[in-house]
Amino acid sequence: MFDQTANAASHMDQIYRFQRHIYDFTRKPYLLGRDKLISELVVPDGGHVLEIACGTGRNLISAARTYPKGQFYGFDVSREMLETAAASIEHSGYRHCVRLALADAVEFDGEHIFGQKQFDRIFISYALSMIPQWREILQQAIKSLAPDGSLHIVDFHHQQKMPSWFRGGLLAWLNKFSVKPRIQLKSYVEYLAEDDAMTLRFESLYNDYACYAVLTRKN
Ligand SMILES: C[S@@+](CC[C@H](N)C(=O)[O-])C[C@H]1O[C@@H](n2cnc3c(N)ncnc32)[C@H](O)[C@@H]1O
Repeated sequence: MFDQTANAASHMDQIYRFQRHIYDFTRKPYLLGRDKLISELVVPDGGHVLEIACGTGRNLISAARTYPKGQFYGFDVSREMLETAAASIEHSGYRHCVRLALADAVEFDGEHIFGQKQFDRIFISYALSMIPQWREILQQAIKSLAPDGSLHIVDFHHQQKMPSWFRGGLLAWLNKFSVKPRIQLKSYVEYLAEDDAMTLRFESLYNDYACYAVLTRKN
């Protein structure tokens, strides 16, 4: 397990060592749906919100700005990304309500990382497509939801409605960053929602470019 985390950390640090400096403005045009996800979190006053694989902290800052009464937590396996996140959060003035940690999403434990066992909202934005053990992360995220809590996911979808030249070019480009759209994501969240205690909303966005899912715990 330790080796796996060390490998993931060094691989992500390698990808993002230089990219992190241009990440926010270069990803804005193609990591679509992130602002929709944030606007639909509807964080209750005093609610605890976790972003798994928070990268540069862009989403956490936006969520903290949108929900000023929330408490925000984010972790990432890349020390390099967290360095940018910490600087951005400091600069944004939201350090009082956003906490960061270095951790692997695979088998994460909120209590161990932040002393917070359950979260009212958990979100994962364009990270499942980078992590081979994405199913385990979803299982753990559901276990970490507070009663009535919800898990929000946005990521690349299967691009089936896109022209083949676009799909081929995009997949080749994403592959350079170890990104693989999870074409089984829809069926897997449907499987998770078969549990009586969960409901699912699934949307295809922008002609199947991206997908958006919300799994809500009923109690
Ligand atoms: C494409 S970025 C998305 C960042 C952010 N969520 C966003 O929407 O801008 C993917 C992030 O996943 C992180 N990551 C990859 N594997 C991880 C793992 N096993 N545990 C935690 N974070 C991981 C990377 O370091 C990177 O910051």
